[in-house]
Amino acid sequence: MAEKLKINDVIDIVPEKMVYGGSSIARIQNQTVFVYGALQKENIQARIYRKRKGVFYAETLNVSNPSKDRIESRCPHFGECGGCTWQHIDYQAQLKYKQHIFTDVLSRIAGINDTKVGKIVPSPLEFGYRNKMEFSFGKNSEGVFIGHHRRGRYDQLLPTAKDCFLVPEKVREIVSNVEEMAQEEEAHDPRTGSGYLRFFNVRWSFHEERAILGITITQDIDLNIFKSWFIDLAEKFPGVIAGGYVTINYAGSSSIGKFHSLFGNTEFIERIGEKSYVVGAMSFFQTNPIGAKNLFDFAREFADLSGNERLWDLYCGAGTIGIYLSDDAAFVLGIENEESAIACAKINAELNNVGEKVIFLYGDVAKVLLEIREKRLYEKPDCIVIDPPRAGLPSKTVRRMMRFKPKRIIYITCNPSTFARDISVFSGYGYSLIKVQPVDMFPQTYHIEAVGLLKRS
Ligand SMILES: C[S@@+](CC[C@H](N)C(=O)[O-])C[C@H]1O[C@@H](n2cnc3c(N)ncnc32)[C@H](O)[C@@H]1O
Repeated sequence: MAEKLKINDVIDIVPEKMVYGGSSIARIQNQTVFVYGALQKENIQARIYRKRKGVFYAETLNVSNPSKDRIESRCPHFGECGGCTWQHIDYQAQLKYKQHIFTDVLSRIAGINDTKVGKIVPSPLEFGYRNKMEFSFGKNSEGVFIGHHRRGRYDQLLPTAKDCFLVPEKVREIVSNVEEMAQEEEAHDPRTGSGYLRFFNVRWSFHEERAILGITITQDIDLNIFKSWFIDLAEKFPGVIAGGYVTINYAGSSSIGKFHSLFGNTEFIERIGEKSYVVGAMSFFQTNPIGAKNLFDFAREFADLSGNERLWDLYCGAGTIGIYLSDDAAFVLGIENEESAIACAKINAELNNVGEKVIFLYGDVAKVLLEIREKRLYEKPDCIVIDPPRAGLPSKTVRRMMRFKPKRIIYITCNPSTFARDISVFSGYGYSLIKVQPVDMFPQTYHIEAVGLLKRS
């Protein structure tokens, strides 16, 4: 009998296919192994580093017959850095794998036929597409640096930020300057609690070509230090630094904390298609706004509004999608449980002059739907757009949605597994998936977004 696999074993394997999560899957000695850094059909030497729930996880050590899809990564930190998962794969091949993975998940979980899945739409930008990044301050023998976590290690940082190609070039230049300024200061060390520089947040408006910069510190120190950083940066990058702020989070656990605006304005405008949106330093916004236009255009096509319909936008965030579609609807109702996002949504409605036909309600979707029904607050919607978090829809929320019997549901998803699960739930209520369109919003990573159209049969 073959020996059982164990941690630190070095094995020779040929993964069968790429799977959701960034790895490929192989079977050896009747065991399942997820192999990080390997492409399907490559001959791989890999080391097993973890076993969880009967499944092994391995990292690639050697590739003896590299796939034609394998390329040299652009970033020198790729593989070690926790930021990207697929920079070693040619972009066209990334799209091909995403298409296969999405189709496979839908077929396995919901029995959905691949003819319903459109050909994935590429991101307009393969690199430099992110409008937001949270970096961390760290320290090594060369001084203070700004970087990302080592892959899978929240206690280790790498000096990666200057080389991060996921953000626009100007952001990288700003990061380099902040790193130089930080040499006089002390990076926070979570293990000892010493030092105070914790996170460096950048938000970028592609429309304004300006940045909002945020520094999180863990101690009460003189904030004038950072004010002078922002002033110096504004001189170095004329017209580019929209605003600068500091947050204080004593535990250093996140960048949320007491907020001090120190320079300029900590809000700017971003555009998706013809619509303008206010983006605040801390507010949620689509991370790839140029790619988001593709996603929203499919939502518009699938909603097929003629101007007379009532549209509900559930999990609406800052009202982005509802406002995008509002020209084609008679009434739009957005629901969202993040108070600051609802405040932004109301500002965005005014900014786009959408008038009184667009309304935003604060609260948990399931609770607000119940209240609307019990108090008969609004007429039933013709079309409901849903854009839930990765966990998908709680069954209670689906039940309450179903009482309004919309003709169409437009489901925007960032997680194929929960999307497939929810499609099966909807089918129990007589809704069929007509088509689904994957849209790549996150090149160099395994993440997949898609828009689905469901109709009541
Ligand atoms: C994927 S985001 C979608 C944002 C928005 N559609 C957009 O395009 O910017 C999911 C949103 O759902 C909100 N959310 C999460 N759970 C919720 C709930 N139970 N009720 C209402 N909103 C919720 C989050 O705050 C977040 O803004």
